[in-house]
Amino acid sequence: MLPDPAIPGQTPLDDLSGLRLEGIRTTAELNSAEAENVRKAVLKYLAARPTPRSAPFDFPWLCRLHGEMFGDVWAWAGTLRRGETNIGCRPHEIQERLHALLEDLRAWKGSGMGLEEQAVRLHHVAVQIHPFRNGNGRWSRMLANVWLKRHGGQPIEWPETTIGTASTVRESYLQAIRAADAHDYAALSALHQRFGGRGRRDTPDGGKA
Ligand SMILES: Nc1ncnc2c1ncn2[C@@H]1O[C@H](COP(=O)(O)OP(=O)(O)O)[C@@H](O)[C@H]1O
Ligand SMILES: [Mg+2]
Repeated sequence: MLPDPAIPGQTPLDDLSGLRLEGIRTTAELNSAEAENVRKAVLKYLAARPTPRSAPFDFPWLCRLHGEMFGDVWAWAGTLRRGETNIGCRPHEIQERLHALLEDLRAWKGSGMGLEEQAVRLHHVAVQIHPFRNGNGRWSRMLANVWLKRHGGQPIEWPETTIGTASTVRESYLQAIRAADAHDYAALSALHQRFGGRGRRDTPDGGKA
């Protein structure tokens, strides 16, 4: 299956190993197949408040969530990457870093840190670890949203289409992620507020549930 570079506005695909679907020829088709898959996970975790049982925030579930978001499309979904990426830690450090993140998350929750800040940090550290071959941005945003929803906050409505393609929103988003890499969370928090909006919350419990 060769991509057709002649289709304007549609980037040809490069690494198709592990693609479960036949007939995908362009990035646009792939994006929409992935979006459909991700939508199922959104329904499962964000339509109603998830429970500690449905979203236990343990290591197997972190992987399972990625599998649920991308497993219809990619055979490697939910499996930790084995290759180096330009973002992210070394492959052999991923599991330990994810365990450390889960411990930090529990500590943040018990420390009186606000729920929004917990979500910002969770989002950033998860994407910084970059556990999977692809889909880390979408998975880390989802993870933060499940955390918000589980604790009575409002999930953030990220403009997923513009954030995933060249756009000014994507530029500010990436700048915010890079600032967070340098321990400055202000811009990423501002984006969480812009697309989440403290005003939209219903009855948050401050992350203590
Ligand atoms: N310097 C960085 N540090 C941490 N994360 C980054 C950095 N640059 C980009 N990212 C994140 O990596 C994501 C891209 O990773 P990728 O696995 O392709 O996710 P997706 O396929 O969901 O976009 C971006 O959306 C962004 O969140
Ligand atoms: Mg990607």
